Amino acid sequence: MAPQKICIVGSGNWGSAIAKIVGNNALAKPDQFDPDVSMWVFEEQINGHKLTHIINTQHENVKYLKGIKLPDRVVAIPDVVDASRGADILVFVLPHQFVHGVCEKLKGNIKPTAVAVTLIKTLKIPCCKDTQLGQHLKAVFQTSYFRIVVVEDETTVEVCGALKNIVATAAGFTDGLGYGDNTKAAVIRLGLMEMIKFCEIFYPGSSLSTFFESCGIADLITTCYGGRNRRVAEAFVKTGKSIEQLEKEMLDGQKLQGPPTAFEVNYMLKARDMEERFPLFTAVHRICTGVIPVQEMVQCLKNHPEHM
Ligand SMILES: NC(=O)c1ccc[n+]([C@@H]2O[C@H](COP(=O)([O-])OP(=O)(O)OC[C@H]3O[C@@H](n4cnc5c(N)ncnc54)[C@H](O)[C@@H]3O)[C@@H](O)[C@H]2O)c1
Repeated sequence: MAPQKICIVGSGNWGSAIAKIVGNNALAKPDQFDPDVSMWVFEEQINGHKLTHIINTQHENVKYLKGIKLPDRVVAIPDVVDASRGADILVFVLPHQFVHGVCEKLKGNIKPTAVAVTLIKTLKIPCCKDTQLGQHLKAVFQTSYFRIVVVEDETTVEVCGALKNIVATAAGFTDGLGYGDNTKAAVIRLGLMEMIKFCEIFYPGSSLSTFFESCGIADLITTCYGGRNRRVAEAFVKTGKSIEQLEKEMLDGQKLQGPPTAFEVNYMLKARDMEERFPLFTAVHRICTGVIPVQEMVQCLKNHPEHM
């Protein structure tokens, strides 16, 4: 097989981190991959200079991943059609609210044999489900410090990644309210139970063991302690500012995933009259949209059906 060309569609915090990994792997495996990796960058001006120009000259995404050098052969391109031209592997890594618009532009403009991998945390982006291809794609991402496990239950992996951001938002609310580690542990436990139940109902066939992979419990704990969703939710309680305002003030262009995912999940729950069966997911959505005060978060934990 001829070396495959990789395009990274996105260049935020995670997009830039993965560009470093993918760029180095492409360089190290020239028999498998074209060493020139293209990266689509949503163009912005930084101190009067184009972000693409800065990345291509300084080899650093100074806005979204400051202080980390990208491989020289990762090339930033502002037009997504140009960036993906001729690519065999498209790595999607952008906030999910922009995926639809980007895919509209790509329609009819990519290689018919191209495969897509998503690193996006959301509920509804169907991608390649071929296990053999999974092993091949592992070579794109695996390093000595970034380990990849190929699992067949890809839907659960994706759904875990999306739902944990709702749980992290709940954890941030309880942090902001001044509760301690036991309350956060309760949020994580009940959140995990709702994640499992949600998968059982909406994505039947998911395997319980997937929740014990890195994408499940491990990612959930990390996000409930360290992520941006937790941080902004805590500030929401402490400052009384809106989520939108805090996202602008605190994240410098990075995007929050918890509140929009809570909105999408609520839409699915409402359609099946199931809001009350998922009190934590429902409370996060209602708090984010101003329907209930944040103090009701703790009430929701106390009255959770799992505690009855
Ligand atoms: N950051 C992480 O640690 C991490 C880890 C795993 C998965 N993810 C997931 O990866 C995805 C991408 O996150 P990220 O951290 O790379 O992004 P980010 O939130 O750091 O950055 C936002 C990105 O959106 C771009 N953008 C802004 N306005 C846009 C528009 N109108 N159209 C298109 N793009 C626009 C910005 O240029 C920037 O690249 C998300 O789904 C996230 O949940 C992130």
